[in-house]
Amino acid sequence: MHNKLLIASHNKGKVKEFQRMLNLDGVELLSLEDQGITFEAVECGKTFQENSEIKAKVYGNLSGLITLADDSGLSVDSLNGAPGVLSARYGGENLSDEDRVELLLNNMRNVPVAERQAKFIAVLTLYRPGNKNISNKLISVAGTCEGLITNSPVGTNGFGYDPVFYIPSLKKTTAQISSMEKDSISHRGKALKKMRIELQKLYNIDND
Ligand code: IMP
Repeated sequence: MHNKLLIASHNKGKVKEFQRMLNLDGVELLSLEDQGITFEAVECGKTFQENSEIKAKVYGNLSGLITLADDSGLSVDSLNGAPGVLSARYGGENLSDEDRVELLLNNMRNVPVAERQAKFIAVLTLYRPGNKNISNKLISVAGTCEGLITNSPVGTNGFGYDPVFYIPSLKKTTAQISSMEKDSISHRGKALKKMRIELQKLYNIDND
């Protein structure tokens, strides 16, 4: 195993999730901790795209390694796209996932069923530091998952807004499905599938 890919996250769980879903032979996925990086990139972008680029560039330049960053969140139509890039911080830094779900439901209490459309969005950015002559130093891909926001939480799987994110075709919230099932329909799963193709090209591997 000689190819290295830095995952721009302090979350070990995310590195494992990426490892499982990218499933690339001969590529070693590293976390920021593996590289001894404690620095926190400031996610000051206005879009998921901007934030994923910021993280990929900051950690790619710090480490000198090819780096993959992601940014994701929930966009609710009736709230003009909120919580959006603030999904993880909606209502303030100190709230729990349950508190944020409660805040979201409260902010949508007068929104009728027909207008409760929402989507999860994930943007992944791959950054190759160093060589100025590489034309594709930055490659971004996106994935979305469409649904409706319920009136109350249902299900105990997943995290974040999963208990209130209902998928009509499954008649379930994303907190009622297994992680395997979620991988196949989720915003992150779709984006990772696209990024896997880019990584296979980059590392010149074919292990399907
Ligand atoms: P991050 O990009 O992993 O930091 O995620 C940003 C935030 O968006 C999370 O803290 C969650 O609140 C929300 N989010 C992103 N993806 C999901 C998901 O698959 N289920 C539930 N919430 C999510």
